[in-house]
This record gives sequence, C-alpha cells and structure tokens, in this order.
Amino acid sequence: MFSIDEVIYTCPKCGALIEHRDEGLSLDPEKTARLWRARRMSNATVDQSGVWRYRELLGFADAERDRIVTIREGNTPLLDAPRAARYAGLDKLTFKHQGFNPTGSFKDNGMTAGATVGLRLGMKLVACVSTGNTSASMAAYAAAAGMTPIIFLPHGNISYGKLAQALEYGALTLQVEANFDQILALVRVLADEMGIYLLNSVNPFRIEGQKTIMVEMMDQRDWRVPDWVVVPGGNLGNISAFGKAFRELKALGFVERVPRFAVVQAAGSAPFCDYFGERGEFRPVRDPETLATAIRIGDPVSWPKAIQVVDESGGVVLKATEQEIADAKAVVGQCGIGCEPASAATLAGLKQLVASGVVDRSADVVAVLTGNVLKDPDYIFKYHTSQLKTPGGELLESTFGNAPVVVPNEPGRIAEVIKART
Ligand code: F0G
Repeated sequence: MFSIDEVIYTCPKCGALIEHRDEGLSLDPEKTARLWRARRMSNATVDQSGVWRYRELLGFADAERDRIVTIREGNTPLLDAPRAARYAGLDKLTFKHQGFNPTGSFKDNGMTAGATVGLRLGMKLVACVSTGNTSASMAAYAAAAGMTPIIFLPHGNISYGKLAQALEYGALTLQVEANFDQILALVRVLADEMGIYLLNSVNPFRIEGQKTIMVEMMDQRDWRVPDWVVVPGGNLGNISAFGKAFRELKALGFVERVPRFAVVQAAGSAPFCDYFGERGEFRPVRDPETLATAIRIGDPVSWPKAIQVVDESGGVVLKATEQEIADAKAVVGQCGIGCEPASAATLAGLKQLVASGVVDRSADVVAVLTGNVLKDPDYIFKYHTSQLKTPGGELLESTFGNAPVVVPNEPGRIAEVIKART
C-alpha cells in the first residue's frame, strides 16, 4: 500500500502498475445517484465538471480543500446513430462521444484528475509521451494549473491538429526520433531523475478520472447497463479504467452486472488482439503502423489490467484494417457526428462482431468515440479526395468519398453540378 502523497506509478517490488483503491467506501446507490443528477443543475464549478460531479468515487481528492484543475470536462453526449447502426448491422447504436471534451478527446476526463494531484503534490514540471491527444490535454490542464508542460512526441507521427494544440497551450514540445513505446521508456527514466510528474496513463489518477466516462454514461442511461461497450485500444488505459468503473459500481450496488467489453485495435498495431487469441507470452509489436496514429502503440503498458477487464466481462478483442477504419469513419461522419480515425475502429469492429454473430443485431450497444473529427483533418481530406494511402503506400479505396467540386463562376454551370449531385 502506498500513500496518495507519494510520487509513484509502479510497484517497486514487481514493477506492475499501481492503482488507486478506496478501501471501505460505502455509498447509498439511490441517494448518491440522485445527488449526482441534482448536481447537473448546479452552477458550482466542481458540479459542472462531468468528472468531479461523481467525486464520491474519486476519494484521492477533496473538492473542498484541494484546488481542482477543471475546464468543464466530461458532459459528453450519448448520440443515437441509426445510419452507423445499419452499417454495422445493428437495430440501434449509441455513441458516447468523448470528442465533445474541452480539448477534443477522452483524455480530459483523466487529465483533470492527474493535474489536480500534480498540483497538490507541488509539482512544477509535468510531462507525458503521447500519440497526440494526451499531450493536447496535458498541455491545457498544466497551463490552467500554472504548471509547466513538457511533451514528448514521436517525430512525424502525430496529426497536426494535436501538435498545434500542444503549441497553443504553451507546452515545451520535444519531437523525438523514436516511436511511442521507446519514448515512454525514456520519459519514465527522465521523470525520476528530474523530479517531473508523469501524466501518462501509467499515472493511477488519470485512470480514476477516466472511470467517470462509464459512470456518466450510466447516469445518462438511468442506470440501465448496456449489453456491450466498444472501445478502441492503444495503450489500454481507457479499457482498464472502464473495467474499474464497473467493478466499483457493482461492488457498491449501483449495478447488478457488467457489460461485455469489446476492444478494437488497428491491424498494424494489435499486440493485445494477438495476445487475446493466443495467450502465452505477451509479444509487443516492434514497429507498429497505422494511419489511426492515436493508437499506433506496439507495447501497451496497461495490458495486464486490460486483459483482466476483458476476461471478467466475457468480452473480446479484435482488429480492424486501415480500409475498415477509414470507411467506418466516413459513416460516422455521414451521421452528422464525426470522429477521428482511432475512434472509428469501434464501428469497424462492431461490423465484424455482428457479421460473426458475436454481437446480436438487437443488442444494446454503446460505442465510445474517443476523439473529435477536427483532430485529423489531413486524413479526412485525403480520404475524400482518393489520396489516402496505408503506411505501406497502398492507396485506400474512398468507398464513401466526397470530394469538393471546383466550379467556374457561372450560375448555369453551378446549377448543373447541383442538379447532377443531389
Ligand atoms: N482513441 C484516441 C483518440 C486516443 O488518443 C487514444 C490514445 C486511444 C483511443 C487509445 O486509448 O491508450 O487508453 O487504449 N491516445 C494516447 C495519447 C496514447 O497519447 O494520446 P488507450
């Protein structure tokens, strides 16, 4: 057991990631659910946060005494998506869209918690390695808290939208000529040596904050547990957090069962999927590749937690190809919803799961869209103009392509184009 005032991420004996536990917590589920619902009407900053609203489950911070670093994260919608449901072969599909967060991804749910603890510990420098979203989020929360953000990125492999956010929020941004996994190992050493607080998902409080994604979802669903929750998998922090959320909700009596979890990886970066199928030793992918750069991770740190979550839930892990992800993403766009490439892996995976009969067409499914459509506009433009190539250089099909049309400044010609295209 370690104190919450210690700067520690892994067990000194066995090296495993540590997690926060609130031993002896007991809540009255009905009363607490009513309190959480009532807080949605409150104008208090901590109540407006879709994370701190559920602070009874975040026992490591005291909303009265600690300075809570919040920019109104969470509060992300559940969106009905009939078109995407049809595409997957489902009667109905709901997206929990984390891209509605202040920096455009689910990372904000965790970062508000990690930054709050960092500030309480008196840390001046905070750091993370990131495929983009963590860094955007970390830079924003560090800036809001008055700490200095240092960001390590794999050079050349993050979207401009995310890089731009890090710069705009004032982070010292280091582009390292190595991949995510290599940089994470490097940063863990540097953080120890230089007294820098790490805000990657090795940080246990990030996971605590991300738990609330599931708590908020359950609050929004009036506590009806879905049959399936589908999520993309990269470093596997999110799925670990989701599993922890349901484990706690069940132990506290808020729910009677846990949904089955499906984790979808990109085919070129799918060590967890391979492990799920074969078991034995966990074999990292040395040179992970995918256009869904957010999940371009070959050696996910949270895999031991994640496999437990998937197994306990009777869940599955699968992978989607670049083509499947690209087409699924365009379909999410056609719903008027939109998301970044990694998020679309959920819909691509669901299509496979319905086709193979693992997910029943009448199942109650929530897919978590992890990032905003504007995170990676370059990908979108290339897809719609038939220029999107796999990391290996193969041109993808623009199945649902929607290229802009260049027209002369002539009303007659423009009218012709409109008639032909509508
Ligand atoms: N979706 C998006 C949009 C992400 O940015 C990430 C992870 C994931 C899914 C996977 O989540 O790692 O918890 O399994 N992005 C990290 C980053 C690694 O650095 O921004 P995970």
